[in-house]
Amino acid sequence: MAGSALDWLAAHEPDSIARLLDWLRIPSVSTDPAYKPDVARAAEWAAVQLRESGLKVEVLPTGDPPGSGHPVVLAESPGAPGYKGPHVLFYGHYDVQPPEPLDLWESPPFEPVVKPASGQIGERIVARGAVDDKGQVATFLEALRAWKEATGEVAGGVRFTVLLEGEEESGSVNLERFVKQHAKRLGECDVCLISDTGMLGRGKPAITYGVRGLSYTEVILHAADQDLHSGMWGGRCPNPISELVKVLAQLWDKNRRVTIPGFYADVRELTPAERAEWKKLGFDQTDALRKIGLPPEADVGEAGYTPLEREWARPTAELNGIVGGYTGKGAKTVIPSHASAKVSFRLVADQDPAKITEAFFAWCRERTPPGCRWEFLDHSGGAPATVATDSPVLAAARRALKAASGADAALIKTGGSIPVAGMLKQQLGLETIFMGFGLDDDRVHSPNEKFELDCFRLGARAHALLIGELRSMVRA
Ligand code: BES
Ligand code: MN
Ligand code: MN
Repeated sequence: MAGSALDWLAAHEPDSIARLLDWLRIPSVSTDPAYKPDVARAAEWAAVQLRESGLKVEVLPTGDPPGSGHPVVLAESPGAPGYKGPHVLFYGHYDVQPPEPLDLWESPPFEPVVKPASGQIGERIVARGAVDDKGQVATFLEALRAWKEATGEVAGGVRFTVLLEGEEESGSVNLERFVKQHAKRLGECDVCLISDTGMLGRGKPAITYGVRGLSYTEVILHAADQDLHSGMWGGRCPNPISELVKVLAQLWDKNRRVTIPGFYADVRELTPAERAEWKKLGFDQTDALRKIGLPPEADVGEAGYTPLEREWARPTAELNGIVGGYTGKGAKTVIPSHASAKVSFRLVADQDPAKITEAFFAWCRERTPPGCRWEFLDHSGGAPATVATDSPVLAAARRALKAASGADAALIKTGGSIPVAGMLKQQLGLETIFMGFGLDDDRVHSPNEKFELDCFRLGARAHALLIGELRSMVRA
């Protein structure tokens, strides 16, 4: 049966790609309120696709008051009469990151193009959202369509709940409440399936079993109540920029470990078995660094851990942006009234984002420079999630990946964050399977984001084959 869905995908690939390009033309940037109508359009677009594949679809408002957030697309396929397989919750996000800086794009971010292969890079779709996450969600949508078209059965007779979010890139701020409100319905699912991660490399499919969490803050250090002439006041009063960077520079010790007391208290240490497994993956850090323009000696991070261990299993602190004083053209001699920094922490199991944020603010307070005052902002975050690797659906996903690609899927983790996974685990006890098709050089969140057609094809085939596997399963 899966064969006919695969045949349909092969025969209709140009149409599948054209549909994805239509979606990518909608600039669904969730962080910027100016794009709100576009975000809503992107949700409606997805709803139409799901309806065309026979699912029952709702587009639900989120936020408090309702409608203040971006909508959730919630859809359902009933499962064929007598279906005994698992009820799978498919999650994806239709919002995208802001496209800036625009001048670095080779073609406009919301005018998707298919570019021919060049060198190592295969034929690809270039647009904001190409791989994160519209292109990956489209691999699932096209698999649903293929099964419906090829067999007449909605979702191949498998019971799905589909949840497409419009706020992932802005921290899933309203999703927690949404999941609570729909706990009964979502709680009926057996497992969550997400396609929003990467593979080990070209032709090397992978299942991701852990994402890091995130705590995202902004700290503003205030000094004088006005900007000052640096000749008159330099050396006579605090300069908030220099004071801020002196404090922030203390975040790491000489081993590049984070110095906030208790920061590592809840960190689950790597097991020797995990370390051994990851060594076997044959990850080449020198090659990875070279691809982003860095020499081998740029392999820096917490002492005592390999690069993969640092990305997948260790928490970190990052400065994402730092602003203060005069940043325009030429010179201006000024001591500004304030300076600010966006400071975030990537977290691993079992760290708690709220606890880490509070510990960081307390750490700053203890280091308040003389005469200065802090202002703290707590932006959204998300809990880390490490998920079970022994579930029957995960085994089915591995069979599907093998059949789709000819290669055995590696078990990997990622340093990125997908907040929904932690919510589903904490609130509903649901495990997640991350079956993603991105590549390391896809330029996620950057100009010229791409999704290679080989990855798109593999994703659609793997999802179609997974549906075939689920059909023949009995609930564990
Ligand atoms: N799809 C990414 C997460 C990801 C990135 C997984 C790279 C695997 C490899 C997701 O859309 C994302 O960017 N998440 C944000 C979450 C944040 C805004 C709460 C992240 O990780 O920064
Ligand atoms: Mn994503
Ligand atoms: Mn993203």
